[in-house]
Amino acid sequence: MRECWDAAGERYLAVADAEFGWANLTRPFIETQLALFEGARVLDVGCGNGRFSDLIIKRAASYLGIDWSSVIVDGARRQRPSLAFRVGDAETLDGVGDGTFDVAVALNVLQNHAHPERALKRISSALGAGGHVLIVIEHPMRTSKVRRAAPLEQVGAYVTLGLDHAYDLAFTYRSVFLGDDTPILGWHRPLRSYLAMLADSGFDLVYFTELAIHPGEDQALMPEAVKRGMVGEPVFAAFLGRKSSSAPT
Ligand SMILES: C[S@@+](CC[C@H](N)C(=O)[O-])C[C@H]1O[C@@H](n2cnc3c(N)ncnc32)[C@H](O)[C@@H]1O
Repeated sequence: MRECWDAAGERYLAVADAEFGWANLTRPFIETQLALFEGARVLDVGCGNGRFSDLIIKRAASYLGIDWSSVIVDGARRQRPSLAFRVGDAETLDGVGDGTFDVAVALNVLQNHAHPERALKRISSALGAGGHVLIVIEHPMRTSKVRRAAPLEQVGAYVTLGLDHAYDLAFTYRSVFLGDDTPILGWHRPLRSYLAMLADSGFDLVYFTELAIHPGEDQALMPEAVKRGMVGEPVFAAFLGRKSSSAPT
């Protein structure tokens, strides 16, 4: 899996800041959460090129981005030379001491993990008591259905979605968003499995939301979603967890 990201690394670095407009949904959501970062030591897990770090460092005391692809970390350092980036696996976070961070973010990354529960447990131990984890994942609704050439059928106020895969199952998929030659593995999981992982890692859920672009909103934010007929559909799911006082330190 790491090899896939190394192979796709340069291509990813070239498109990450634009990423077909998907970032335009995550960015305003993070802007609603800035208070979290006030004076905080922030760990960005699976940081990629750190494209949201500018929002975080406005308020944070410190920022460390960790990503397991050395190609991507080299690129992140090139693109954002004033920030700290390190090569490391989210499941082990080598060199990160227990209780040394106040906030961890895992943005658009856990759906690319075979074992996100391991990463969440390790993230939990890296946080001090009361620390927060902010997670954004690709919404499973997106991987439950195959894009249809035909327009969706409008039935009264409702749009029929047509699921091609059970919303409730877990499965692995090959994602070719970086091109056919650089497939990335992803894991479609029901939302409840992320809730269970958070609880098992000692986090209380304090906030949950689904990110979508709705009819009437600024469609220019996500031209790709409009083109693919995805207006009104959840594109990302976001969870904010707080390390519970009973969680092991
Ligand atoms: C879709 S990118 C998202 C990057 C960034 N968080 C963002 O929102 O722009 C996923 C990133 O996670 C990294 N990644 C995937 N699995 C990882 C793991 N087990 N440990 C560390 N990084 C990982 C990949 O190398 C890639 O850079």
